[in-house]
Amino acid sequence: MRSLPSWHVFERVAGAYDEVLPFFAAIGERLVAAVGPGPGTRHLDIGAGRGALVGPSLDRGCAVTAVDAAPAMVARLAADFPQARTLVMDAEHLVFPDASFDLATAAFVVHLLDRPARGVEEAFRVLAPGGRFAVPVGAAVRAPEPAAIQDDMDALFAEFAPHLPPGGGMGAAIDMRRAMSAAGFVDLEERHIEVVVPVPDGDALWDWCRSHGYLAFIEDLPDDRREEFRLRMRALARAGGVLQRAHAVLIGRRPRPTRREEST
Ligand SMILES: C[S@@+](CC[C@H](N)C(=O)[O-])C[C@H]1O[C@@H](n2cnc3c(N)ncnc32)[C@H](O)[C@@H]1O
Repeated sequence: MRSLPSWHVFERVAGAYDEVLPFFAAIGERLVAAVGPGPGTRHLDIGAGRGALVGPSLDRGCAVTAVDAAPAMVARLAADFPQARTLVMDAEHLVFPDASFDLATAAFVVHLLDRPARGVEEAFRVLAPGGRFAVPVGAAVRAPEPAAIQDDMDALFAEFAPHLPPGGGMGAAIDMRRAMSAAGFVDLEERHIEVVVPVPDGDALWDWCRSHGYLAFIEDLPDDRREEFRLRMRALARAGGVLQRAHAVLIGRRPRPTRREEST
């Protein structure tokens, strides 16, 4: 069982995160395009990391606030995106008043929280009535690339997962539709996005695996299994290989009060 909150892993990898392969940046760009916020949208990005969603949102003229629990991530966010408001903050305890934002996003964050439902409730609370919350959830690739290595990677993780100690690795499966509905979000809809990111060679693939949350899995493997895992992972990077991933961007809306609620 991991004794420290998951953000401690990201604190250690902040310098390398999305620098080896621009995987999260590619997803962030498509996610923001799928949500399509207009100029002036007050956008809160929760667990912003290195700003995969922050740059595209600023490019669209949004007023971006980016928060993350890892101070090293926030230091880089502040340096890379001086136009954004950047703050160290726990997603389970947002310090903003109710109804402060028009759009909240949390990409690959909620499943890392100790209390995911609390994180979704906080996003709901800080959104203005009519505001939207968008998160990526897993989806099937629609047009598989022949050179995609994702299936082989997933199979390798599945093969080695039984070697983890109890509670090893990071993150828990979460039913986001259910969590968002329970928090009060309505009008849930999904928009499909896909990314294809070239993997130059085995070293790049291994360095990428250690530059984000996969590091927790690697570190938690027993020493004798970790080296085998490294060799097998490196060997997956064949010539022309690509990371291909699909997501459904799940978007929910905080309902506006009805006339009757407004008058009471
Ligand atoms: C997988 S990264 C995703 C970063 C970014 N959203 C992206 O798409 O690249 C998860 C991020 O969530 C942050 N995080 C983890 N636990 C958190 C918490 N309790 N509150 C706020 N951020 C947290 C980590 O520090 C890390 O930057």
